[in-house]
Amino acid sequence: MKNNVNIKKPQGKLGVMIPGLGAVATTFISGVLLTKKGLGRPYGSLTQMGTIRLGKRTEKRVPKIKDFVELAELEDLVFASWDVFPDNAYESAVKAGVLNKEHLDPIRKELESIKPLPAVFDRNYVKKLDGPNKKTAANKYELALQLMEDIKKFKQENSLDRLVMIWCASTEIFMKPGPVHQTVDSLEKAMKENDPAIAPSMIYAYAAIRSGIPFVNGAPNLTVDIPAMFDLAKKHQVPIAGKDFKTGQTLMKTIIAPGLKARLIGLNGWFSTNILGNRDGEVLDDPESFKTKEESKLGALEYILQPDLYPDLYGKFYHKVRINYYPPRQDNKEGWDNIDIFGWLGYPMQIKIDFLCRDSILAAPIVLDLVLFIDLAQRAGFRGIQEWLSFYFKSPMCAPELYPEHDLFIQLMKLKNTLRYLKGEKLITHLGLEYYD
Ligand SMILES: NC(=O)c1ccc[n+]([C@@H]2O[C@H](COP(=O)([O-])OP(=O)(O)OC[C@H]3O[C@@H](n4cnc5c(N)ncnc54)[C@H](O)[C@@H]3O)[C@@H](O)[C@H]2O)c1
Repeated sequence: MKNNVNIKKPQGKLGVMIPGLGAVATTFISGVLLTKKGLGRPYGSLTQMGTIRLGKRTEKRVPKIKDFVELAELEDLVFASWDVFPDNAYESAVKAGVLNKEHLDPIRKELESIKPLPAVFDRNYVKKLDGPNKKTAANKYELALQLMEDIKKFKQENSLDRLVMIWCASTEIFMKPGPVHQTVDSLEKAMKENDPAIAPSMIYAYAAIRSGIPFVNGAPNLTVDIPAMFDLAKKHQVPIAGKDFKTGQTLMKTIIAPGLKARLIGLNGWFSTNILGNRDGEVLDDPESFKTKEESKLGALEYILQPDLYPDLYGKFYHKVRINYYPPRQDNKEGWDNIDIFGWLGYPMQIKIDFLCRDSILAAPIVLDLVLFIDLAQRAGFRGIQEWLSFYFKSPMCAPELYPEHDLFIQLMKLKNTLRYLKGEKLITHLGLEYYD
């Protein structure tokens, strides 16, 4: 299959700029450093371990994804970060308590060299946090210019060829798109007037896009999911993606729900509760930040189960999500799901899940894949929302006239077909009639 996509080769170094040097960011960076030294394996990463089938099943062509598409090498990644706390990546990783000493000791020097730049931070958007490492300026537009200066300096000092930015900072309070989010002009005017509708994450995203850098949003914040940012991304020819890394309980939901629907098993209720004790949990203990997360977590089931198409099966299910901050658990979250289902003739059944997961261990490979794929998207000339990366998000961004696709398996098919498309390979439909002619 021919296409007109010309993918530029990933030559030189790729800068990875991360707002938020907390548990997820340090676990991601540490994993990359350990993998490079042969001291760890990048489990969970599609770009590092995944394969892709090409052509007919009889052809037996199943290369590794990283041998099929031109991705940046781990060797070529260079990291920088912003955080309100001045701790370097080593100190922050120790505090986060995700990785043990045996993993952190061999990469201590490299981690210590990553010192966070002063952040664009405003307590009004993350109520439970505050720290000393902050920028000051007359208005939000000026703050964006300072971030753009940081970006320029990082690029020059490290002789980088390309950059990406990925938001791994805290979840901000719940915000809805408003009038100032509609156009680039209204967005810039609002930034200059210090309008409260401009959250810090938007200032980072604005700075990235204006600098021609792809932006990925790992939290459920509104950030780039507004028309002004779609336009800005098109104008500056930059891909954007979000939002909220799909890990833990929502990952489980998007694995199980498509299965129930495939077999037309009905649902009366799905109750999900979590205990977690990391800083993310502390931030989410604030009702306004939790509301942002709750919206993100609730959406998946509705979209997967399509109650409007299956009113008898999914028209009345009760869905509840709880997050409880419980410090003793640190990053080791426990998520319980009680799922009340019904089958043939309406007989009720139950499924119970107790997922003892490690949040940042699940998030780190997602960060790596998103960094490498959004850089690929940039080199392939893709612009604006990258729906093919929905696979990685709890609230996938999509074109305004579409509904988001939440089913993990459809998302994976979409991702792999996009890679096949990029390389001019036949898309796989799974029809397979040709084997039986
Ligand atoms: N771990 C997961 O499985 C997972 C899944 C989905 C989404 N997320 C999201 O990823 C983000 C990071 O999670 P985490 O566990 O690493 O949290 P964390 O609290 O350990 O780290 C977040 C860091 O961001 C910093 N920060 C906050 N606002 C900032 C700003 N404006 N600029 C710069 N730094 C800022 C904080 O000081 C903190 O160090 C959170 O928003 C979380 O909701 C995590």
